[in-house]
Amino acid sequence: MTVSSAPGKVYLFGEHAVVYGEPAVPCAIERRATVSVEARDDDHVRVEASDLSLDGFTVEYAGSTDDRPDVNVPAGLVEAAMGYIDAAVEQARDAADVPDAGFDITVESEIPLGAGLGSSAAVTVAGIDAATRELGRSLPPEAIADRAYRAESAVQKGEASRADTFCSAVGGAVRVEGDDCRRIDAPDLPIVVGFDGGAGDTGELVSGVRALKERYDFAADTVETIGDVVRTGERLLDPDAATDVDAADRIAEVGDLMNFNHGLLESLGVSSRSLDSMVWAAREAGAHGAKLTGAGGGGCIAALDPTPETLTALRFTPGCEEAFRAELTTDGVRRLE
Ligand code: PMV
Repeated sequence: MTVSSAPGKVYLFGEHAVVYGEPAVPCAIERRATVSVEARDDDHVRVEASDLSLDGFTVEYAGSTDDRPDVNVPAGLVEAAMGYIDAAVEQARDAADVPDAGFDITVESEIPLGAGLGSSAAVTVAGIDAATRELGRSLPPEAIADRAYRAESAVQKGEASRADTFCSAVGGAVRVEGDDCRRIDAPDLPIVVGFDGGAGDTGELVSGVRALKERYDFAADTVETIGDVVRTGERLLDPDAATDVDAADRIAEVGDLMNFNHGLLESLGVSSRSLDSMVWAAREAGAHGAKLTGAGGGGCIAALDPTPETLTALRFTPGCEEAFRAELTTDGVRRLE
């Protein structure tokens, strides 16, 4: 048996715009999906999954996920989760050149599904790493990231950027612009996450932004403006950048830019009442800044606050189901067994 884990992430800046070639900066957080894989003697795949937002399900199928699992959780979420696992299995079979390999797979995730913390990327990255090793091959993190991107793109019908999968595979803070993916140095940011208990449909939200962008030039300009916010933000993160602003003030300015980024995402229609109310609770509690993270529509916000105030305020905010401090991690995919 092989076991791998991979981290979730928050977007400091740039989600949605990254789909159209603008840069984005996600950071890996110490909340992980762990995938255990055991090879079988037939070509079946059996998956057992447990997750914060699912009661857990088990499904067995031969070759593909065409057979719908009979489980008592929202069909869309299970279908999405199974799609990523199926695509990860395909990538592992291809990488190891064993097209009919079968597996027993167990997924345990600390990352809520579809909530903007990169659960699908983490499951895909950990799944490809564990399944490939189970077939006797070992890929470096960059190759895992590339295969995980291809898997996500297949599931999301081409509407995926490399941001989530690269960040989850290599860890740390990363900068992604088109196919150009790299680790960047970033200070240890005091990130607080608020989760409304819900999920957004990434594919639908991405299509909504695309439609707005095609309809209105000012929506296309908004996407480009998000790119400008990212370019300004990454200079503030760079510890080597020559600047006369001290470190604490730079973190405060990163917060200002997160506020700006949230406003732009809101105008593109991807926020929600509960995300906005968590963002405002954080700001009123004195956070340097706050924004939704990931596709939006529901799910999580990320705020910057070194004090306990935002965490406390979020815990008392109607619509916020869970709030926690997110430790950044420089570890991407981890091999546990
Ligand atoms: O909500 P998540 O974690 O799936 O993030 C989606 C981020 C988008 O920029 C909206 C899409 C993408 O693939 O980059």
